[in-house]
Amino acid sequence: MPDKKFTIGVLTSGGDAPGMNAAIRAVVRTSLSNNMDVIGIQNGYEGLINGEFRNMNERSVGGILQRGGTVLLTSRSKRFMEPSGQRDAIRKMNEAGINALIVIGGEGSMNGAYALSQQGVKVIGIPGSIDNDIWGTNIAIGTDTAMNTIMEAVDKLRDTASSHQRAFLIETMGRNSGYLAVMAAIVCGAEVALIPEVPITADEVAVAVEEAYKRGKTHAIIINAEGSSIRTIDLAEKLDNMDVGFKTRMTILGHIQRGGSPTAYDRLLASRMGLKAVEALMEGKHGVMTGLKGKGVDFIPLLDVISNKRQVSMEYYHMTKVLAR
Ligand code: F6P
Repeated sequence: MPDKKFTIGVLTSGGDAPGMNAAIRAVVRTSLSNNMDVIGIQNGYEGLINGEFRNMNERSVGGILQRGGTVLLTSRSKRFMEPSGQRDAIRKMNEAGINALIVIGGEGSMNGAYALSQQGVKVIGIPGSIDNDIWGTNIAIGTDTAMNTIMEAVDKLRDTASSHQRAFLIETMGRNSGYLAVMAAIVCGAEVALIPEVPITADEVAVAVEEAYKRGKTHAIIINAEGSSIRTIDLAEKLDNMDVGFKTRMTILGHIQRGGSPTAYDRLLASRMGLKAVEALMEGKHGVMTGLKGKGVDFIPLLDVISNKRQVSMEYYHMTKVLAR
């Protein structure tokens, strides 16, 4: 009887990010090229607990490279955070003959991956999150696409802001991280960026906007990260009640930032990481996450990934101020 093939399970978890499909495709095709079987786990860790499995072949990942979201579906599983959920998941993996797991997701998903690795599961993480808040990689899959979506939206808002000589308050995603807001402020030429890492008051924002008005600007763009110290709706109301020169309008970009076809950069990053994750398993590596370091894909212990907090670059934050003159 032929030996049973090594079987890799792959899942996506947490908030979806453009490029996750490209990573799934790379995992599936690299595994099949190396004579391994692949099982797609639907609905993230929730599906792992429920045994929502499907066999993957070359054609199951055809036509998905350019699609946003995740064909495997995703979830934020509360049950999996409990030891009982993890135990059930491991039992389901064993019943299905899954020998190793590849988890594509954000910070929370890497925590889950580490918990499994501590219980003897061979697991490799691939960072996928628009927030780019995962320690150990320069950039996560999906961030570049989200940045481009934000840039396109802010450019459009600036057209109307200038025409009416208004201030526009724009909320970007990022519950705990100001990465998207800071980068958006640089690439969109915003006057002010509010981020969770640097508390700032409405009065300080008002001063910056008023100064922009006095300098003769035709508009003011304020980027507020979702997790900053001031709620967008409150800040808009405050600015409208103060005399800062411009009248204020508010736009919350919301989940539009998570969707859309991945950029070339994200497709390439996801393809590289998917391929490297499978090759790493073949070399006997596990308990690690793929991370972009310099120009190459490296492997970072999951324990390091989850024990460190990725900080937004203060150098970039400073740049937003200097360039807002
Ligand atoms: O983690 C990605 C993210 O888009 C965050 O920026 C945001 O705070 C959160 O997910 C929103 O989550 P949900 O889609 O579950 O509301």
